[in-house]
This record gives sequence, structure tokens and C-alpha cells, in this order.
Amino acid sequence: MERNVPQHIAIIMDGNGRWAKRRNLPRNEGHRRGAETLRKVIRHAQKRGIAYITVYAFSTENWSRPKEEVDGLMNLLRTYLKQNLRFAKKESLKFKIIGDIQGLDADLQAQIKKLEEDSSQNVGMQVNIAMNYGGRDEVIRAIRKMSENLLKGGLHIQEISEEVFESYLDTAQIPEPDLMIRTSGELRTSNFMPWQLAYSEFYFAECLWPDFDEKQFDLAIEAYMDRRRRFGKSE
Ligand code: IPE
Ligand code: IPE
Ligand code: MG
Repeated sequence: MERNVPQHIAIIMDGNGRWAKRRNLPRNEGHRRGAETLRKVIRHAQKRGIAYITVYAFSTENWSRPKEEVDGLMNLLRTYLKQNLRFAKKESLKFKIIGDIQGLDADLQAQIKKLEEDSSQNVGMQVNIAMNYGGRDEVIRAIRKMSENLLKGGLHIQEISEEVFESYLDTAQIPEPDLMIRTSGELRTSNFMPWQLAYSEFYFAECLWPDFDEKQFDLAIEAYMDRRRRFGKSE
């Protein structure tokens, strides 16, 4: 049995829209509440001794939502990143953004850079936020970067290995997730970390993300600790 708490937890924070709809509120109100839930979950994860947490905030596919929702989400991310400057200092958190950052507005890119730099010396938990992130897109961007290096002669075809390829992914330097949690009852990964989740344990919670709390988080950790990870071995 896996007795240790997971070192790295990945979370697909899903169900904000349904949460709002049930209350006759605009979808963006669901997202706002979801951001509050995330802050609560980060504090609790740090208390539980988790070293890394990676959360799916906006996917490359989410651009196809109505403009009003996309604008609302981008503004929420602006506010959220700004507030995190103080939050990072207070809780000694290290922040990193994964995804195609160049596809975001220039002011958001600047904010990301500031938050990452500002928090880089912090010694607490590392929080990775996936923004404009798609797993397939990440793989393609990694292939482009690796190919550039190949063409320059900095890398030879025979040297390509899983480890070398991983060093071109957004998650280079980050160990792969031990546990993936998705809320809202949907049983799919929606293009979230396909390479990195290859051997992770999956946990699906029925509740909608704004309703997720410390108790639910602990249930997921308990379930993980009861699992037996085999990594292909027979025992
Ligand atoms: C997750 O909640 C947040 C984002 C995708 C940005 P949704 O907005 O997907 O909520 P549902 O799944 O429609 O309820
Ligand atoms: C995944 O949720 C993306 C985020 C949580 C940011 P979606 O709600 O976009 O995924 P699908 O459409 O249900 O697969
Ligand atoms: Mg959804």
C-alpha cells in the first residue's frame, strides 16, 4: 500500500459553470467562487505536506467558449495573479505557470513573469497553474524546441530519450503527479498532462469545484494511500 501522502497532486477544477447555473448565477460567478476554493485548497495542501500542486485553470480548448465567459476568466486570472503576489509571500509558496504563455495578453504575460520571479526563492509548496494549457499543444511545443536544438547540432537523434524529451516540456524539473483529482463527476482528462499522468492514480469526486473543501481533499489523499501502485511489476 502507498503509505506516503502524494508528493505531487494535479487537479482538474471542474464544475464552476454548473455550480452557478444551479443557483441562477452567471457562470463567471462560479469561476470567482472556484478561485476562492483554490486558495483554500492550496493552504490545506501545504499543511498536509504536499510538495507540488498543479491546477488546470484554462485549457487551449476553453477559447471556444462565449467571449463574455472568456473575458471574465481572463480578468479573473489577472486579479488572481495579482493577489497571489501577497499570498505567495505570506505562505512562502513558489508559483509557476505552465501552458502556452505567449498566447495570452501581454499584461498577463508580464504579471506571470513577476509572480514567478517574486516567488522563486520561496521554500514552501510549489503551485503550478495551467493557463492556455493543452497537453497535446505542450508536446508539440516541446518537439519544436527539441527540433531546433537538433538542427543546431546541440542534440543527436540517438540521444533522444524519455528524460531528454521531458526536459523540453513545460513541466521540466517537476516530478510527475502521483495523484490526479477531477471534480464534478466527469470521467475524462480533457487534454490535461497526458504525458505526465501516464502512471498517476486517478480520483474522481462528484462534487462541483466551488463545493470542494478540505474534507474532500483529505478523502482523496486517503483513497490514494490505500492504492497499490505497481508500475508494471507483478507485485
Ligand atoms: C471549470 O468549470 C473551469 C474552467 C473550465 C475554466 P467549467 O466552467 O467547465 O464548469 P462546468 O463543467 O461547465 O460546470
Ligand atoms: C477542463 O474542463 C479544463 C479546466 C478545468 C480548466 P472542461 O470543462 O473544459 O472540459 P470538458 O469540456 O468537460 O472536457
Ligand atoms: Mg467543465
